[in-house]
Amino acid sequence: MYTLSELQKAVANYMNHLDVDGDPHSLYEPIAYSISAGGKRIRPMLTVLACNIFSDNALQALPAAAALEVFHTFTLLHDDIMDNAPTRRGKPSVYGKWGANAAILSGDAMMIYSYKLLQQTPVEFLPAVLGCFNYTAMTVCEGQQCDMNFEKREDVSMEEYMDMINKKTAALLAGSTIIGAIQGGADPQNRQHLFVFATELGLAFQLQDDLLDAYGTEEKLGKPIGGDILEAKKSFLLLAALQRADVNQKGEILAILKDNTMAPADKISRVLALYNTLGVKEMAEAKINEHFNKAMEALDSLDAEAERVAPLRELALGLLGRNK
Ligand code: IPE
Ligand code: IPE
Ligand code: MG
Ligand code: MG
Ligand code: MG
Repeated sequence: MYTLSELQKAVANYMNHLDVDGDPHSLYEPIAYSISAGGKRIRPMLTVLACNIFSDNALQALPAAAALEVFHTFTLLHDDIMDNAPTRRGKPSVYGKWGANAAILSGDAMMIYSYKLLQQTPVEFLPAVLGCFNYTAMTVCEGQQCDMNFEKREDVSMEEYMDMINKKTAALLAGSTIIGAIQGGADPQNRQHLFVFATELGLAFQLQDDLLDAYGTEEKLGKPIGGDILEAKKSFLLLAALQRADVNQKGEILAILKDNTMAPADKISRVLALYNTLGVKEMAEAKINEHFNKAMEALDSLDAEAERVAPLRELALGLLGRNK
């Protein structure tokens, strides 16, 4: 069994030594650039930590862990095109630096590269791991499409929002965890508890992402504040604000979001002022805690020694109240 910091080092080392160079350089350079820009490495950590609960050979899950991180980073390359986002992980996004065409094709190559990594999974686990990976990847695409569809709609419900973030974000955290659990030899009951854990953690994680997009700092987050407002994203904050607003406030919010002549900074500050009046930050914090607590309860339900679950618990606790 490994400690959290041992696995963090192993994941960092594995990610730093991925061989992503080739010809033409212009295809591979954005791949190396985005992978080396770092990020929190949550998904590969979930994979090795879940494996670590049931097996003393958690490092066997490293190729699949890296596949999940490369897949995640690929989704960010395409997401930044779709969200018109010039900055990512504290640097120009691939889209911002090289343009949409490079972000599309280097992103595609990254998706293929993630399968190349997955191929190195021990053969006895490969069919189950591949099945889980494919299901997860398709679910992320479904969620991402809903996210974009919602930009154009003014009647998105909280239920629809929760389903959307479940697909676009929680599914990948769940898939990452289950792929680790499979390689550790977890039984179906424990896999199910871990699925609930990672799904609830993923919901809390995306709610935090929405919260930080409005209330974080660019310096910590590595991306500018207010992007969701500018893109009229149906974030939790916006839906909560629309729920709480009176008729006039609702009209005002919707008019600001639609106004193409208003300076971006004014748009952001006016919507934030309404968010503050309506107290939606506190609503988001309560919702994050609710899902985070459900995640921790699911961990408590695992049939495993507490000591073996501790590193995964430590990672999850580190995400509560995150500012990046
Ligand atoms: C960003 O994910 C996209 C979401 C699903 C919210 P992360 O916040 O995990 O991004 P990195 O990998 O740390 O950069
Ligand atoms: C990202 O959601 C989910 C993906 C499937 C990539 P966001 O669009 O909110 O992620 P950020 O805020 O750009 O990191
Ligand atoms: Mg997006
Ligand atoms: Mg985005
Ligand atoms: Mg976001």
